[in-house]
Amino acid sequence: MELRALTRLAAPALAVLIALCAGCTGATVQGRPGASGLRDPYFPRAGNGGYQVEHYALDLAYDPADGELRGTAVITARAEQGLSSFNLDFSGLKVEGVDVQGVAARYNRTGSELTVRPAKDVRKGEVFRTKVEYGGRPKPLVDPDGSKEGWISTGGGTAVGVGEPVGSMGWFPGNHHPSDKAAYDVTVTVPAGYEAVSNGELLSRRDVGGGRTAFAWRSAEPMASYLATVAVGKFKVTTGRTASGVSVYQAVSPGEEEASRAVLARVPEMVEWGSATFGPYPFRTVGSIVMPARSLGYALETQTKPVYPGAPDEELVLHELAHQWFGDSVSPRSWKDMWLNEGFATYAEWLWAESHGGVSAQRRFEAFLAGDTSVDGHAGVDWAAFPPASPPGAEHISDDPVYYRGAMVLHRIRQEVGDEKFFDLLRGWAADHRYGNASTADFTAYAQRRTGADLKRVWDVWLYGDARPKA
Ligand code: ARG
Ligand code: ZN
Repeated sequence: MELRALTRLAAPALAVLIALCAGCTGATVQGRPGASGLRDPYFPRAGNGGYQVEHYALDLAYDPADGELRGTAVITARAEQGLSSFNLDFSGLKVEGVDVQGVAARYNRTGSELTVRPAKDVRKGEVFRTKVEYGGRPKPLVDPDGSKEGWISTGGGTAVGVGEPVGSMGWFPGNHHPSDKAAYDVTVTVPAGYEAVSNGELLSRRDVGGGRTAFAWRSAEPMASYLATVAVGKFKVTTGRTASGVSVYQAVSPGEEEASRAVLARVPEMVEWGSATFGPYPFRTVGSIVMPARSLGYALETQTKPVYPGAPDEELVLHELAHQWFGDSVSPRSWKDMWLNEGFATYAEWLWAESHGGVSAQRRFEAFLAGDTSVDGHAGVDWAAFPPASPPGAEHISDDPVYYRGAMVLHRIRQEVGDEKFFDLLRGWAADHRYGNASTADFTAYAQRRTGADLKRVWDVWLYGDARPKA
């Protein structure tokens, strides 16, 4: 046999041998480790590479008496590469076991990275299930800006899990970056007499024996993990429906009912107004979770059920509901794009006010520009401290310029293109990026395309410019 023919035969034979050998030793050749972070400009270790989660099934049990949380997370994901190992973001609580496709897996933890080594490599394109069992007494995490997130127990048996930007890793393992959205089934077991509330719709509430009740919640629409929530407390629950049939579930901590009643009664009307202004409400349910006053330092737009630290006012409820379109349905590509959440939700407050007998957005815009705090009531706001598209560090992503100068960007677009094109832009943006992720560059390109206007000066001065804009 000629040498060339021999090598031609040898190559496939060698491949077969390697494959056989890999099979016989239990090793496989196709996998490599998934990345431990997604290189977010502000939170480089948030999220993980090599897979996308399709579904989280969280089975949680919380005991308000001793603050113990026990959890089983079953994470169904699709591999985007062959994986010899992959990471989950998880912080604090003790891991008691991990399996992949039903087979025990090795794992280790460094900081908030949980590295899982399945017994057998995961093939590229494979949909695989990872089960993590864990438990302990969760402690809150502290944000770069000093606020608390993660699992926060607020006294009197009440507790809440929140996760913006990276607190969700304090109460369940996951791919905790907004770019990986998934469906959720969350079951929470609590002592009888307590309510457990999560995102989406309540599928069942049943007595599971031992004086305990299990609440099963489902979020069928994609959700970023920072928008997941679980709240436990002796809430007073009211339910209803909006005019167009979105189901409403509102849970209010005892002592906050009186002060919450009038504003929560307006949630259906706000959802209808949002649908008329921004396009159809993106989810099948809506509601509120009112925690005890001062139990956390902020409200959060947790998907379908914003969390409030005590009875909210009208502006705050409108703000968190507006996030359902802007932030929750259309989510930021990275934490640099936060103004796409906060600028929009703030501008929604301005729009709501002007269409409900309040001050016009134009008047508010002028007042901010002039430093006149008598109009908005947000005294001392430094709206121009930095450009909204580039906060000067992770501790600034929730600062005033992201909210107010972000809103002013939208008002500047409206001034340039007029109301008809502006509202068409808002509706188009929400519709075309529904359930997805988008970046600032996506928005500027989209706005130019949709309105046909040249908005370069608006971007240069208002979105990216370091100097304090004059007009
Ligand atoms: N996104 C929340 C809102 O509706 C605020 C979150 C504030 N978080 C923080 N770490 N400062 O505006
Ligand atoms: Zn907000």
